[in-house]
Amino acid sequence: MKRGLWFGTNWKMNMTPGLARQWTDTVTAYMQNMPSDHRLFVMPPYPLIPQLLRDTEGTGLIVGAQNCHWESRGPYTGEISPALLKEIGAHNVLLGHAERRKQFDETDEVIGRKVSAALHAGLGVVLCIGEGATLKGKQTETRQFLEQQLAVALRDIPSIQPERLVVAYEPVWAIGVGGQPPQAEEVADALSSIRQTINQMVDECVPIVYGGSVTLQNGRSLLTKTETDGLFIGRHALDPSTFIQIIETAVGERSEVE
Ligand code: PGA
Repeated sequence: MKRGLWFGTNWKMNMTPGLARQWTDTVTAYMQNMPSDHRLFVMPPYPLIPQLLRDTEGTGLIVGAQNCHWESRGPYTGEISPALLKEIGAHNVLLGHAERRKQFDETDEVIGRKVSAALHAGLGVVLCIGEGATLKGKQTETRQFLEQQLAVALRDIPSIQPERLVVAYEPVWAIGVGGQPPQAEEVADALSSIRQTINQMVDECVPIVYGGSVTLQNGRSLLTKTETDGLFIGRHALDPSTFIQIIETAVGERSEVE
């Protein structure tokens, strides 16, 4: 069965208001002719969220945050609550990204609390999971590692409404400059084991996307396997034309496979 594909990007600590406007103008123009079953999402830095929401209203672009706290308010200097994100109109939030896990010591437990809080607040969640370099190539251990990440992150969630949860498989060794993206077959193996685990935990069909050094060159082959429900793109989506080209080639490839 044909399923809509998901394409998202995390801007990390990049972009300016001016560049953001150029990006949204280009991407929303493209979206007018995009098949309606595909979904596009973007996670800008916090201060740009209101601008993006305003500039893209009614276009279907999903605008989210890159992080949130697990409490809805309180003495947490520098933090942002899921309740506030919801109130300003953000659609979803990225949780469990490898950079947050590594640079800000976020554990599976912390991520689980955040996932639960965000879903309870009415936000969608893009949950990142992925093994590090020490498990590269070790299938059984990788599978157990991913299962554990999912089990803790999703252990206290409310029943999920359709499209409120997306899981992004992002092996740590594939992310960023110097990252080595896996072959489509390796991605498909990891995604089908993630799918098995999720099916035991959540009733809804949860889209599972791949992220980590997705480029114009490899985006097409990464989507040849029907296990992959979409792509999550970092640095190569900062240029809106490249983002669109990746989507177009990947969607074209998938329609040939299906
Ligand atoms: P990248 O980032 O595409 O630049 O590797 C991916 C990510 O961090 O989600």
